[in-house]
Amino acid sequence: MNRANWDDRVPHHVAGDFYDVPGFVAGTSSLDKFEIEEIGTMVRDRTLVHLQCHFGLDTLSWARLGATVTGLDFSAPAVAAAKELAAAAGLQARFVKGNVYDAPRLLGEQYDVVYTGKGAINWLPDIQRWAGVLAAVCKPGGSLYVSEFHPFSWVFADENLDVVYSYFHSSEPLVFDEQGTYTDPDAELEHTRTLEWAHPVGDVISALAAAGFRIEFLHEFAHTHFQRWPFLRRVGPARRYELPEGMPPLPLMFSLLATKVA
Ligand SMILES: C[S@@+](CC[C@H](N)C(=O)[O-])C[C@H]1O[C@@H](n2cnc3c(N)ncnc32)[C@H](O)[C@@H]1O
Repeated sequence: MNRANWDDRVPHHVAGDFYDVPGFVAGTSSLDKFEIEEIGTMVRDRTLVHLQCHFGLDTLSWARLGATVTGLDFSAPAVAAAKELAAAAGLQARFVKGNVYDAPRLLGEQYDVVYTGKGAINWLPDIQRWAGVLAAVCKPGGSLYVSEFHPFSWVFADENLDVVYSYFHSSEPLVFDEQGTYTDPDAELEHTRTLEWAHPVGDVISALAAAGFRIEFLHEFAHTHFQRWPFLRRVGPARRYELPEGMPPLPLMFSLLATKVA
């Protein structure tokens, strides 16, 4: 169900203004400023795998910073678009189609840096199994970098700050049935039903620790990557949104660096 929905979104995302594909081909980066500041120099001359890579913009942005990159996503149109984008941008990359839970078998190798996020974890039912996958594809002594929407931000309604969803995990998925996508609320999709799961920060950290990662830092940010609520204001560069002045800041994103204990 989720894959059909993501397949439908790909052409809208590639063609729309939000991801600015022409700008990327011309040389811009799709990464957030904090991502580049936190691990930009670390990826140079390293192998990097991007799990749930969508159509490869972030994956290829890491390539521009000197990483040898692989991206994995379960959407065939996303992987096809990623390969086209790599060719258009003149960048080397490997893109693999498959479920993230099958990544160790599908990729067949381990990487210096494992990267994922910006709307990845909420699509997955089992956070312990996810952490096991990250450990399996990370070299001993390698790094995991997760840059993700803060799960606290998902407790609120889409229109306002009414608390309507549990912060805590339930094995029962949240079921949504919505037209449109975050890049274009008017996009017409054929497959509109999706299933999502909440994973609080404590569950993420505990799952990673149990899978063999040592947490180096966990940073929380009061800005986010898309128009999460209608009243967010866009500030500075593209894809950076904050609550209006006068409202107390909320945690909207987090980043996490961990080392796989050798
Ligand atoms: C919000 S997008 C990630 C966006 C990406 N960070 C970006 O901004 O380009 C989520 C991606 O997860 C992928 N996805 C969801 N569930 C998956 C799964 N079980 N295995 C592999 N990919 C999955 C979707 O196809 C989609 O491309």
